[in-house]
Amino acid sequence: MKIIEMQNDYINKIKEINKEGKYAVLTMGCQLNENDSEKIAGMLEKSGYSKTDDLKKANVIVFNTCCVRENAEDRLFGKLGEVKKYKEENGTIIAIGGCMMQEKHIVNKLKQSYPFVDIVFGPHTMQDFPKDLYEALIEKKKIEDILDIDGNIIEGMPIVRGDSIKASVAIMNGCNNFCTYCIVPYVRGRERSRNPQDIYNEVLDLAKKGYKEITLLGQNVNSYLVSERNKLESLKASNNITNIEIEDKPNINFNVIKENGEKIVVDSFAKLLRSINTIDGIERIRFISPHPKDFTDDVIDAIKDSDKVCNLIHLPLQSGSTSILKSMNRKYTKEQYLSLVDKIKAKIPNVQFSTDIIVGFPGETEEDFEDTLDVVNKVRYEQIFMFIYSRRVGTVADKMENQIEEKIKHERFNRLKKLAEEIIEEGNKKYIRKVEKVLVEGKSKTNDKLLTGRTETNKVVNFEGNDELIGKVIPLKIVSEHMWYLKGKYDNI
Ligand code: 5AD
Ligand code: SF4
Repeated sequence: MKIIEMQNDYINKIKEINKEGKYAVLTMGCQLNENDSEKIAGMLEKSGYSKTDDLKKANVIVFNTCCVRENAEDRLFGKLGEVKKYKEENGTIIAIGGCMMQEKHIVNKLKQSYPFVDIVFGPHTMQDFPKDLYEALIEKKKIEDILDIDGNIIEGMPIVRGDSIKASVAIMNGCNNFCTYCIVPYVRGRERSRNPQDIYNEVLDLAKKGYKEITLLGQNVNSYLVSERNKLESLKASNNITNIEIEDKPNINFNVIKENGEKIVVDSFAKLLRSINTIDGIERIRFISPHPKDFTDDVIDAIKDSDKVCNLIHLPLQSGSTSILKSMNRKYTKEQYLSLVDKIKAKIPNVQFSTDIIVGFPGETEEDFEDTLDVVNKVRYEQIFMFIYSRRVGTVADKMENQIEEKIKHERFNRLKKLAEEIIEEGNKKYIRKVEKVLVEGKSKTNDKLLTGRTETNKVVNFEGNDELIGKVIPLKIVSEHMWYLKGKYDNI
């Protein structure tokens, strides 16, 4: 039986026994994790559950975990302590999914210290969640549903999106890079790309539903379809493409048939950007994250030529020191990173950058850290996501002997934060008196008399305006700047 048919079978079985049940999904990770949570919510709502934010009232609580940094573990175990009493009082089903469940030591800890957890499932078995839930409900047994091999990307999963204006679309899963600090390749497996047609159709459908902004997601988006292309090439080279077992062929078709019947070839990330750019109704396209080593010229040209692709590029630096980059296995030097930035700036007018930086990687000297500050000073990012290096069991860097003292890590983090804030504050000044195109997202969370939206460069802009503007891209004159937002004015433009 096909996976989705089997899923539907269990969804229907749950529906028969479920009486107005409520669910809560707690997302603890990145945007891919968030996108998975929307699929978990999709399966639950299809099974007749409705969403609640009140954990006490939930009949099913799902934790969607992350394992990129240690603090995610602390948060999970803290929260499990809280939900234990709901389990005891109301018999709530407690399920834990996500990347952390691929780590054996975590699952063992759960079994030993948190035996009240009903279901443990991993990112490769998410599609079987209705089966797991049904068995937990009916047979009252503890379910452990984890696969070590890379699961296929499942098309056709139900999805309940958290927003009606902006949506994220996973284009691939897994990572082949093995940066030495990172656990992702171990838990998400090797790179697998979705069929271009499936992505195209998903975005088309979102456009028809009124979505305006799409974020394409992947651990390394600019190697989209690279593994599949390589596999095909080596099959062709070995000249036995016709003899090979069907399962061994990459299950991919590089042709996209557009709505008007036009057939185009999409065999790279650049071409995917170009194809999505033609979809009417979508006004903005973002993507996270590209790897600097794979930022090829065709991608730069596609960004330049595609009017909907935002001129903010997230370009993870991780460290500005060539020797630390080498020991991180990032495969670029400080100079190569900076010249890539220069090349992109020369080709794309008004382009801005955001980045990820890790401080306190093993062996990081004061000089290495100053190289990071130097790159930050030179690139003058719009936004910096800063992380203190966190040891991850099973990674190469965890075994390195020259780990940095916590005190030094924190001290460097604070120095980087101070510099980042100075640069962001100064950068905000360039918006003053300029007219910016803003996608209006809704009412401001802190003041319901104000509307809030974002510029192409992802800056929050608050302004006074009519609710009818929500969901539209409008010109706003920026009148003042604050650390984390700008103030805009709608009229008199
Ligand atoms: N410690 C700290 N930060 C990490 N990241 C990934 N692994 C670690 C780790 N072990 C950061 C990287 C990555 C972002 C998603 O998380 O900066 O780009
Ligand atoms: Fe982790 Fe590096 Fe892959 Fe990003 S590219 S997911 S940091 S291994």
